[in-house]
Amino acid sequence: MKVLLGVGGGIAAYKSAELARLLMQQGHEVQVVMTRAAEEFVGPLTFAALTGRKVLTNLFAIESAIEHIAVAQEHELLVIAPATADLMAKLAHGLADDFLTTLYLAFTGPVVLAPAMNVNMWQHAATQANLATLVKRGHGIVEPGSGYLACGMTGPGRLADPETIAAAIERAAHQRRDLEGEAVLITAGPTQEPLDPVRYISNRSSGKMGYALAEAAAARGAQVILISGPVHLPPPRGVELVAVRTAAEMREQVMQHLPAAGIVIKAAAVADFHLSKVPDQKVKKTAARVSLELDPTPDILAELGRKKGDFLLVGFAAETQNLQQEARRKLESKNCDMVVGNLVGGSSDLGFESDENEVVLILRAGKDISLPRASKRAIADRIFDEVLKLRLALHAANGS
Ligand code: C5P
Repeated sequence: MKVLLGVGGGIAAYKSAELARLLMQQGHEVQVVMTRAAEEFVGPLTFAALTGRKVLTNLFAIESAIEHIAVAQEHELLVIAPATADLMAKLAHGLADDFLTTLYLAFTGPVVLAPAMNVNMWQHAATQANLATLVKRGHGIVEPGSGYLACGMTGPGRLADPETIAAAIERAAHQRRDLEGEAVLITAGPTQEPLDPVRYISNRSSGKMGYALAEAAAARGAQVILISGPVHLPPPRGVELVAVRTAAEMREQVMQHLPAAGIVIKAAAVADFHLSKVPDQKVKKTAARVSLELDPTPDILAELGRKKGDFLLVGFAAETQNLQQEARRKLESKNCDMVVGNLVGGSSDLGFESDENEVVLILRAGKDISLPRASKRAIADRIFDEVLKLRLALHAANGS
């Protein structure tokens, strides 16, 4: 692939030399573009030696006044590492006062940014607002790592490893934007049903599958609403997070956001039972046996199935046995277009807290599709591939 590597003026600029070397090793053609500030940190000669190409530096020192256009057209992907706070601000606002920022505006391919800066600069509202703009524009962000920073402070701000940036480049190069203009509603995580002010019942669920779905949908250009029970995961960038606790709260938020959604995916492990009347005070411990009278929670998926209008409905089924039959039964009884079934509770480490999963997709019309073990993120993409195929088939059947 023909890659443009933009180097910003930060201490991490020296690490970009390592990135250039890695990209070359992976067989890419690398054209380095440095800002004037970057040259203060590393000499262009280092990059020229590593890439075998003259480094592009200053807009006005270039032979042709339209060279940035030609360079933009000749390359397939633009990665900027380190992306400094100043560069991010310029990119977000379309300021173009040197070769790299002008090139950015002329470039129409995928863009990957690897920010690096002091932790306070990174966390500053201005930087975060610029970042949100760049995420919304569809650029890949390689999150900075946490640790000891050159400024002596500790926190997020370190340039990600060259390997991580190279992997993000690979992903961006193959990134489809086939959910552009689509609103996707995803539920994730467990719900917690209080028994008293300090106790609750819940489900085993890390939320990882739902969050992976949200991340995949956002990367493919969708507007994503993620309605999530309590989990320990950062929300994916560019996603609207609605935090809920109970099944009742989740139901309320789902129904509220439903009118906007074209695709609804219910990956949440909603508690099936709750205490209808929660005591105001903590229940005292006694030696005696206690029993709980629980009522069923609202079945959100079933309610959506009954409402079923223009949106595509995907449910999940975590089963400990008879996966395919159970998942198909759920598809029929809850009127879903697809149910993602996964076996849980066995000897394998798949399912609940794992980063990987192995699932079977049960389709309303069509054969079951078994997906081999893969990362939840990769499975999320396969689910959207099939959802889009379903949508196409439905449109064809409706003649629209
Ligand atoms: O019937 P079961 O709970 O196994 O079905 C799982 C599917 O139903 C999941 O998609 C889950 O999010 C959804 N569900 C729901 N509301 C409930 C229980 C489950 O939406 N109260």
